[in-house]
Amino acid sequence: METQRLNPYLLPHKGLRNLLAKVSFLAGNLDYTSVHEVEQLKLFARELFYLLEQHAQVEESVVLPELEQKAPGSTQENHEEHEFLEAIITKLDKQTEQLSVESTPTDFLDFFLDISDFHSKYLAHMLMEEREVLKAIWANFTDEELIAQHHRILSSFTPEKILRWFRFIVPALNPQERKIVLGGMKANAPKVFFSELLEVIKAEMPEFAFANLVKSLEEKELSNS
Ligand SMILES: [Fe+2]
Repeated sequence: METQRLNPYLLPHKGLRNLLAKVSFLAGNLDYTSVHEVEQLKLFARELFYLLEQHAQVEESVVLPELEQKAPGSTQENHEEHEFLEAIITKLDKQTEQLSVESTPTDFLDFFLDISDFHSKYLAHMLMEEREVLKAIWANFTDEELIAQHHRILSSFTPEKILRWFRFIVPALNPQERKIVLGGMKANAPKVFFSELLEVIKAEMPEFAFANLVKSLEEKELSNS
């Protein structure tokens, strides 16, 4: 069987793609006269900006400095892209806060187009990291180093932060990836936290996919016991 190396971008980028698409979709189809729908859009947009900021922080404080140490000069372009994207996020954040049912249809259309523009730029950025930076990471790090880095990042997260990330990551994974990621968490995390995690994920997944996930976790547990 093909063995895959650890890809530090896989989980966060799938989660971010999920939430980017969701915000983009909501920005296009909301009823801008509905207080509830405008509030929903703002909640998901804020969550997107929070996760984007958290993600940039992990890349800027762990992934890129460690790569730079091994391959000097290899991360310059990535830093510049982060700064460029961060400036757009700050602008979008302000624009989001100004939206209300008092805003004009043009304000909402502008927001929809600006989110869409950012969406396309962020997809291109993630692809650059997945196609180019990942090659440099894999060329310079051993499997053991990658696993240790992954654990260092995850163990620095509070339970609240894990819930906020996994809410969007897990629905965006394929069933095989979900089983591995959640199987590991089920075996190691406190029971109360794991139940909370499943509740959060359930709200973001189609019913049948969630039922299949629960079934696959039960089967995994049986095969381990
Ligand atoms: Fe990045």
